[in-house]
Amino acid sequence: MKLQTTQKDHPLLYRQVYDHIVARIQRGELVAHDKLPSIRMLAGELQVHRLTVFRAYQLLKEEGKAYVKEKSGYYVAPMHEITGLPTYEKSSAAARTYRNEMSDIQRVPSVYQFSQALIDPNLLPNLYLSQYVKEVFDRYPKMIGTYSDLQGDAELRDFLGDYMTGRLKVSISADELIITSGAQQAIDLLARLYIRPLDAVMVERPTYSAALDIFRAQGARFLPVDISPGGYDLVQVEEMMKRHKPRFFYMNPTFHNPTGYSVPAGQRKELVALAEKYQCLLVEDDTFRDIYFGEPPSLPLFTYDTEGWVIYLSSFSKYVAPGLRICAVVGRSSVIQPLLTLKSLADNGSPLVNQKLFLHYFGSERMQNHLEKLRIALQIRRDLMIESLRDTGWQWTVPEGGLNLWVKLPDQLSVDMLWQRATAEAVSFVPGAVFDPKREMRSWFRLSYSFVNEEQIRTGMRLLTNLAGSMDNR
Ligand SMILES: Cc1ncc(COP(=O)(O)O)c(C=O)c1O
Repeated sequence: MKLQTTQKDHPLLYRQVYDHIVARIQRGELVAHDKLPSIRMLAGELQVHRLTVFRAYQLLKEEGKAYVKEKSGYYVAPMHEITGLPTYEKSSAAARTYRNEMSDIQRVPSVYQFSQALIDPNLLPNLYLSQYVKEVFDRYPKMIGTYSDLQGDAELRDFLGDYMTGRLKVSISADELIITSGAQQAIDLLARLYIRPLDAVMVERPTYSAALDIFRAQGARFLPVDISPGGYDLVQVEEMMKRHKPRFFYMNPTFHNPTGYSVPAGQRKELVALAEKYQCLLVEDDTFRDIYFGEPPSLPLFTYDTEGWVIYLSSFSKYVAPGLRICAVVGRSSVIQPLLTLKSLADNGSPLVNQKLFLHYFGSERMQNHLEKLRIALQIRRDLMIESLRDTGWQWTVPEGGLNLWVKLPDQLSVDMLWQRATAEAVSFVPGAVFDPKREMRSWFRLSYSFVNEEQIRTGMRLLTNLAGSMDNR
């Protein structure tokens, strides 16, 4: 969302500022007789004109939600029960954008699909999984005739509770887990739970583009935190938490999408300490943890959390079976309970068949063997892609895990133009601006080495680098 000042303020912007204050009252952050932030302060924080805030405050006053004290300012009116956000839908429509840029890009037909951060289905043990289907149906003959528990199948949650206890080195019970339909649904539910129009949300720059699209749809304001091979700038992180009091920090700190970078072990503990100090939730999306090529990655941030400031998302889409749509959300009950209500509104629980299939497949020894082979196959593809870039003069950091290579073109080349030409030759990749909360990063792009086979990497990368070479010589 674009927030402009003076003459350019959108005529409805004051309604969004109004919604923002109403939402804060509703969440109990502001209670009766609390002083509202000064007009100057809120205008600075939201980057709108002071008159916009003034109009919002006047509306709050007219509607009896705020009162004025002479020479002091605006205060929350007492006994005002705000049971909903009555003007929310109408007034924030201007702030909301419903898009999924990545899916727009992935719909462009191509043969050399370097845009897909998914695993080549030929690398997943499909035959083996299909053997389980009959077995699982025999074991639970009434499965298709019942709903799953809203929170997720109890048998699966028991299993995952133990699994997560091993992974996180913290005791996790079945009650501290929700099964969602992919990490994507978990991100969406969290956004619905926490974000109201104009709320500040910290995101990495760059980051997973669908998360940006989901947050935009809720009218979020982004606070971008740069991610580099060395992690984050913790001074920048602290400053943002202190100054803007964001609703949460959405992060993908292990084999990050799109860059492949990992936040170093030393920063993880400190990040949790900052989250506790400034009471900012950390949403740790750990989708790529199991796809590593050398040493296993550092422990998750969740491991260091003692006060419940980290929510942990563990999707099994990438290396088990994307089609089953299984993700475990781990958190303390203060988070799990409201999420459950939202989950009930969304779909009343994830499909039981998928959960039972996943349980029996994931728990098998063969699954672990599959994972080891998968890592080797992906590492070979990563190396092949890197080899094909050797003489290009492009820049990248070798990823130690994940599915993607994050590449920078030399200044004289345009990613947008390369994308236009490449798609005409049936080669696809994702331009960097899609991952950037500021929609810049125009010299960068993401190449995924996981969906294409070795032959496709050789041919597709030759096409791509030749195209770039011909642009260079123009
Ligand atoms: C960082 C990240 N989070 C979440 C997802 C979505 O995962 P799922 O298939 O579990 O919805 C992806 C998919 O690419 C991703 O890269």
